[in-house]
Amino acid sequence: MDRILVTGGAGFIGSNIVHHLIAHTDAHVTVLDKLTYAASLESLAGLPSDRVELVVGDIAEPDVVGPLVREADTVVHFAAESHNDNSLEDPVPFIRTNLVGTFTLLEAARAHGRRFHHVSTDEVYGDLELDDSQRFTEDSPYRPSSPYSASKAGSDHLVRAWIRSFGLRATISCCSNNYGPWQHLEKFIPRQVTEVIDGRRPRLYGDGRNVRDWIHTDDHSSAVLAILERGAIGETYLVGADGERSNLEVVRAILRHFGRSEDDIDFVRDRPGHDRRYAIDSGKLRSGLDWHPIHSDFEAGLQATIEWYVANEAWWRPRKDAVEASYAARGQ
Ligand code: NAD
Ligand code: TYD
Repeated sequence: MDRILVTGGAGFIGSNIVHHLIAHTDAHVTVLDKLTYAASLESLAGLPSDRVELVVGDIAEPDVVGPLVREADTVVHFAAESHNDNSLEDPVPFIRTNLVGTFTLLEAARAHGRRFHHVSTDEVYGDLELDDSQRFTEDSPYRPSSPYSASKAGSDHLVRAWIRSFGLRATISCCSNNYGPWQHLEKFIPRQVTEVIDGRRPRLYGDGRNVRDWIHTDDHSSAVLAILERGAIGETYLVGADGERSNLEVVRAILRHFGRSEDDIDFVRDRPGHDRRYAIDSGKLRSGLDWHPIHSDFEAGLQATIEWYVANEAWWRPRKDAVEASYAARGQ
């Protein structure tokens, strides 16, 4: 891995792996990012200019993608439309970026014989009941619920077909919900933290008992690097850190942090098709590739993340009103 192309490298998780690759490898990294509303150039600040290059462009444009893939030896594909609620409002960019964009990258990787890693989500497996003792494994059936998760499932199927039909040297990772610095305010934890900072009440969809399996974004990055270095071609790896918490538990921890009453919560209109529970069995990644999360204490990671949002108001403040206006329009 001398030259790595990271798509979506100006986003929340993509920017984290760019820092991770610079710190833990000798590779040169080219970021290909369209700089949508979700991107943040600040998240790439401080990186060495002789090792990191930014190309602003669309992964669904073959003329943009082709030369960049040819110059790289490895493609790590993070770029996506990533928010379920937006996909319910307007699925069009999800289909274009997540399906057509992935297809465009796969064709370029096939043409130039490049190693490809596809970053996906546990949401492709649908959801689990709250009282189910099972967790998702690599053998769970694909059962996506939303336009977002269906578009990611479709992109996984494209990657699998390119492996089988064309011998593409590719791997897939399906990770659970990430948290950490630089996450866009529209997502659950940053939204609630910044609402509480602004003296308002967190907003829980439905009854608030939905469960997510939280992992720190640093641990997602180390998992992707482990797969790039040691993963078996053609394989899918589930990435998770045993961080199952209900949404109610998470907002209560945020309220406690700020000395607010744990009952200071508004329950709002539920998300249509809202997945009940996600839970990951990451045994294959842990035993097969000797990967282990560092941030195994979710409460400690959450405290540090809350403190990051407190300290970095200058970054999120300009984005806040637009996010809340769009939630208000949906009654959430
Ligand atoms: P994000 O929304 O924060 O960032 C996405 C990035 O992709 C942005 O910088 C955006 O500008 C870029 N992008 C979007 N469309 C593009 C296009 N057509 N061409 C080029 N760039 C484009 O997303 P994220 O939360 O960092 O997620 C990154 C990846 O990880 C996604 O593939 C997502 O499905 C996956 N994932 C996310 C989570 C999570 O909890 N956030 C969990 C598992 C998997
Ligand atoms: P989200 O961050 O959108 O991630 P995902 O849909 O990929 O799991 O939401 C996480 C959980 O939080 C999900 O169950 C929806 C819920 N949620 C709320 O209850 N209130 C909110 O304001 C938001 C944004 C999400």
